[in-house]
Amino acid sequence: MIVVFLGPPGAGKGTQATGQAQRLNLRYIATGDELRRAIAEKTPLGRKAAEFVESGQLVPDDLIIALVGELLAESSERYDGVLFDGFPRTLAQAEALDALLAERGLAVSVVVYFDASPEVIVQRLSGRRVCRKCGATYHVVELPPRREGVCDRCGGELYQREDDKPETVRERLRVYEEQTAELLDYYRARRLLVRVDAEESIEEVRRAVEAALDGLGEGTGRAPER
Ligand code: AP5
Repeated sequence: MIVVFLGPPGAGKGTQATGQAQRLNLRYIATGDELRRAIAEKTPLGRKAAEFVESGQLVPDDLIIALVGELLAESSERYDGVLFDGFPRTLAQAEALDALLAERGLAVSVVVYFDASPEVIVQRLSGRRVCRKCGATYHVVELPPRREGVCDRCGGELYQREDDKPETVRERLRVYEEQTAELLDYYRARRLLVRVDAEESIEEVRRAVEAALDGLGEGTGRAPER
C-alpha cells in the first residue's frame, strides 16, 4: 500500500501520519523531517537545503528525488507499504515517484488531500510547537503538552520551527499554490485523490483519514474517487 498525504503546510498531515503509519504498518517517509535532520547534522544535503527550508522555498527537485530514491533503496521488508508525507510536491517529483515505484512493481494506492483554508493554517502554524528530541508535534491551544515547553512523550524541549514565523508561512502558502496545488489535478485525473476536510477537529480528521485509507479495495491498488 503506497499512501501520499498531500495538502498545504500546516493542514495537519504530520499530526495524522504517524498514527496511520503505525496502524497500517507503513514505513513513514516525511521529506521535511529528513531535511531538518540533515540540516541539524550539517550533512552535505543539509548544507544545500538549509537556505530553501528556512526561507519557505522548495528544495530543488533533483536533491529531493535523490533523497527519496536513497530512502526507498533501504530495506523495508518488515513494512506493508509506505506513507509519504510532504512528497511529492511538484509535478516532476510526482512523475519521479511513479517511476521509482514502477521499478519495484508498485504504484500509488491513494492520495489523501488535507484541505484547509489559509486562515486556519496561519492559526495552526503560529501555535505549533515541536519536540527537539523526538519530533512530536503540539499546538499551544489545540494540543498542548501537559507541561508547558516539555514533550509528553520523551521530556524533550519544545521549540517553534524557524519556518513557522508569519512571513515565512505566507511564503510557504504562496509556494504551495504555485508549485504543489497542481498535483491535485494530477492525482484526481488518476482517480487516486480522496479529499478530507482538514478544518475539523484532530479526532474528526483521524476518522475521515481512516475511512479514506480503509476504503481501499483489498488488492485493487486503486481508491474510488470521492
Ligand atoms: P514540511 O516539514 O513537509 O512542512 P509542510 O508541508 O509545510 O507541512 P507542515 O509540517 O508545516 O504541516 P503539517 O500539515 O504536517 O501540519 P501539522 O500536523 O504539523 O516541509 C518543510 C520544508 O521542507 C518545506 O517548506 C520545503 O522547504 C522543504 N521540503 C519538504 N519536502 C519537500 C519536497 N518534497 N520538495 C521540496 N522541498 C521540500 O499540524 C500543524 C499544527 O496544527 C500543529 O500544531 C498541530 O498540533 C495542529 N493541528 C493539526 N491538526 C489539527 C486539527 N485537526 N485541529 C486543530 N489543530 C490541528
